[in-house]
Amino acid sequence: MPLVTMNEVLPAARREHRAVGAFNIGNYETALAVVRAAEALDQPVIVQVYSRLIDNGHGEPLGALVRNLGENSPVPVVLHLDHGASLEQVERAIRAGFTSVMLDCSQLPFEENTARVRQAVELARNAGVSIESEIGHVPMGGSSLAVSQLEETVRFYEATGVDALAVSIGTAHGFYREKPEIKVDLCAEIAARVPVPLVLHGGSGTPRDKVRAVIERGIAKVNVATEFQYDYQQRLRERLNAAGDKFIAVDLLEAPVVESSTEFIKEEIRFFAGLI
Ligand code: 13P
Repeated sequence: MPLVTMNEVLPAARREHRAVGAFNIGNYETALAVVRAAEALDQPVIVQVYSRLIDNGHGEPLGALVRNLGENSPVPVVLHLDHGASLEQVERAIRAGFTSVMLDCSQLPFEENTARVRQAVELARNAGVSIESEIGHVPMGGSSLAVSQLEETVRFYEATGVDALAVSIGTAHGFYREKPEIKVDLCAEIAARVPVPLVLHGGSGTPRDKVRAVIERGIAKVNVATEFQYDYQQRLRERLNAAGDKFIAVDLLEAPVVESSTEFIKEEIRFFAGLI
């Protein structure tokens, strides 16, 4: 089916207290695993591309292959730009056929974040794609946690009109060094005042009971990158170690890796959808 935007899949998920998994891919095999897993479970899925891949020119070909997988799939697939850093990246992703974008100015002062995101919302609306943004800041690559403040979060939503809002409620990107404190009550307070689907970044390693609790309270999209890609790399490493010096064509080398990555994603989708 044609690719869809987040607006076709997330509002229903929020109403039904389930979440759609959003997985960062970096090559054909990871993209294939994500789409195959969604198909096996007959569930929608969001395929995300890091913004650096837009900068270095890989976003267009990767986007094209995700579009091809999605268009030939019976399940709804969203192609989303993750953590777009500028309006130029957002425009480039839209031109490349992404059906959804994020503009992340969460480290800028409130007024500047709001002003830039408003411009991106206009771009997205004109192009017919969905848009996510972030208030507060979910740490990544050494940046500090800034928990979303309730009043500021409501003002940000009202001033921008984003389709989905990433909130900072205690998670962090990457592997945790210490157990995170997830602010379940804050999530519920935000959800009571912000009607659009909320997004949880930093899905890897976040305690499952907390993920379930926030899905019950307004989170309708959960992002997972590190654990998925680490699992993929472990399987690939095993294959390479087992092969030793023997030549194996890359598609044959990767086939079992794609299969095990598909199983990994299926588990994630099942959990987010409330099927387990
Ligand atoms: P993790 O790498 O912690 O799973 O976070 C993914 C993410 O939020 C991508 O935006």
